[in-house]
Amino acid sequence: MEVYKEARLLRKSLTKHRNTGHSVGLVPTMGCLHKGHLQLIKRCHKQNEAAVCSVFVNPTQFNNPSDLENYPQNIEEDLNLLELTGCDIVFYPDVKEMYPQPPVVKIDFGNLGNILEGKFRPGHFSGVGLIVSKLFNIVAPDRAYFGEKDLQQLAIIRRLVADMNYDIEIIGIPTVRKQNGMALSSRNKRLTKDEKTQASVIYKALKAGEAIVKNKGSARDVCNVVGDILKEAPLVNPEYIVCVNPDTFEILETDNITENTAICTAVKIGDVRLIDNLIVRS
Ligand code: PAJ
Repeated sequence: MEVYKEARLLRKSLTKHRNTGHSVGLVPTMGCLHKGHLQLIKRCHKQNEAAVCSVFVNPTQFNNPSDLENYPQNIEEDLNLLELTGCDIVFYPDVKEMYPQPPVVKIDFGNLGNILEGKFRPGHFSGVGLIVSKLFNIVAPDRAYFGEKDLQQLAIIRRLVADMNYDIEIIGIPTVRKQNGMALSSRNKRLTKDEKTQASVIYKALKAGEAIVKNKGSARDVCNVVGDILKEAPLVNPEYIVCVNPDTFEILETDNITENTAICTAVKIGDVRLIDNLIVRS
C-alpha cells in the first residue's frame, strides 16, 4: 500500500496508474475508521484497480472548535485496516498541505446546505464541498464513494458534481449498523455504555416510521411516531425528525406518502451529536 502526505507525490503515482490503464476510485474519510468506512473501501477495491482513501480531519467543516479538538484520530490503526481491506493508496495530508493559506472560496449550496445539518452546523457543507472539490481535483477519480449514513452530504456531493461538471460517478453505500441497529460512527466512541444502549432506540424509532411510510401514512404521522419512540430513551434528545426525498433532499410534507422517502433524524446524547436515517423506496 502506498502512503502519501503530499498531493504532488500522490498525483505522480496516479499518473502512473492511469498510464497502465487503471481506473481510480476515491473514498474520502476523516479517519478513525470503522466497518462502515471499510464497506466503502471494499466496494472501491472491487470496482477499481487503484483504490485511494484520503484520511484528513477537515477543519473548515467544523463549526464547533471543541468538536474538532475532540475528533478521534488513530492513523496507525487506520493504515492497518486499510491495508487489510484492499486499499492501494492512502492520502494522509496535514492541514498545511490542504490549506497552505486560509481559503477564501466558500461554496453555497442554497437551501440544500442551509436546512437540517446545515442549520445546526452553519458553514458545515461549505467546508465539506470545499474539501471534496480539492480531493476531486487532486485525485481526479473515475468513481467516488460516500455513505448513505450522511444522506444530506451525499445529496450535496451529487449537486456539486452536477453543477461543477465533475466527470466522476458518485456511488452511495448503505449504512452499516451494529446488531442492535445502531449506525456505526466515529462519534460512538465518545458514548458511555448506558448511552450506547439508549442510542439503539434511534433505529427502533426509524423502523416504526418505515412501517407508517409503507402504509402510505402522512409525513407528520411518521415524524410523530419516530418522536414518541425516541422519548422512550431519556438520554436521547432529538434535534430534528423529517421525511425527505432521498435523492434531492427536498422535505416531504405530504398527507399520504407514495414516493421514495428517507426518514432523517439527529439527536444529542450528552454533548455527542448523532445522525441517522432510513430510506424507504416505493
Ligand atoms: P467521515 O465521517 O470519516 O465519513 C467518511 C465516509 O464514510 C462518508 O461518506 C460517510 O457517509 C461514510 N460512513 C460513515 N459511517 C458509515 C456507516 N455506518 N455506514 C456506511 N458509511 C458510513 O463524511 C466525512 O468523513 C467527511 O465529511 C468527508 C466526506 C470525508 C469530507 O471531509
